[in-house]
Amino acid sequence: MPIQKVGVVGCGLMGSGIAQVAAQSGFPTLVREVNDVLVEKGLKGIEKNLDRLVEKGTLPAADRDAVRERLRGTTSLEDFRDADLVMEAIIEQLPAKRELYTALDAICPKHTVFASNTSSLSITEMAMFTKRPDRFVGLHFFNPVPLMKLVEVIRTIATDPAVYEEVFAFAQKLGKTAVRTSDRTGFIVNRLLVPYLLDAIRALEEGVASVEDIDNSMKLGCGHPMGPLTLLDFVGIETTYYIANVMFDEFREKRFAAPPLLKRMVHAGWHGRKTGRGFYDYSDPKNPKPLKFI
Ligand code: CAA
Repeated sequence: MPIQKVGVVGCGLMGSGIAQVAAQSGFPTLVREVNDVLVEKGLKGIEKNLDRLVEKGTLPAADRDAVRERLRGTTSLEDFRDADLVMEAIIEQLPAKRELYTALDAICPKHTVFASNTSSLSITEMAMFTKRPDRFVGLHFFNPVPLMKLVEVIRTIATDPAVYEEVFAFAQKLGKTAVRTSDRTGFIVNRLLVPYLLDAIRALEEGVASVEDIDNSMKLGCGHPMGPLTLLDFVGIETTYYIANVMFDEFREKRFAAPPLLKRMVHAGWHGRKTGRGFYDYSDPKNPKPLKFI
């Protein structure tokens, strides 16, 4: 039976984007946060995004209202008892994931498929928190979810091939280009992106060029929408540090090792755009100023 009712756990940056895209693609979508304030905040953010699309003329007002109708917030996991697919986008910590999946496994019917949006944790390890490792996959979206066209669909050695195909077809129904990949830390994108981002930091550390010149080189020389240091600030300095450490732990390869500057920035609380400072100073968010590191 194709996936019809969709649940999203976590309504932060990624979860709210996933919920928005699912509801915009016609799926009744229930999104859960831990308290009412966070539910409200997440739904307000989605409404703002939809309003912007209406203002720009890319979404008819009636469609926005229909999307809003399909989207419901909750604080209770019990409400996922009739979901066909639950997508998880909570904090990247295994104990929190274990607690969530153990609870969901007890609440959801046998046919419900679980999909994690993790960027670096093992899908197989999470699948084993449940009694349904054959109905467990990864669905890795990219920030900002409504704009980025890709979703990585991750199978483990325990995933039922029919379930995998079902989720793959669902990912395509979200209007995304779905790619097939297996449960190796970083999947496709982060396996290639993370060493590149870390190399940009190493180039800065070694005095190859300034923040601005490194970014302009990759933007204007290679046609990337953002330079690597801007992208690091966008993704989050501590998020990248975390992913790099998980990847280094998995592969023991130097290309995944976090450069000292990245670690120092995490210690200093320079976490990128969200803290107002990373490789750039965002005091004036419309006009970020590159910082000097050498
Ligand atoms: N949500 C919704 N819409 C947004 C948005 C957001 N967060 N940010 C920008 N937009 C919209 C703007 O409203 C604008 O729309 P219009 O053209 O219709 O007016 C459009 O996007 C372009 O915005 P800007 O002109 O401000 O900026 P831009 O041209 O640089 O585009 C971008 C913004 C799409 C984010 C682009 O810079 C980009 O693609 N950057 C790279 C992002 C990327 O690599 N993401 C993946 C990160 S890795 C990851 O997520 C996975 C992981 O595991 C770490």
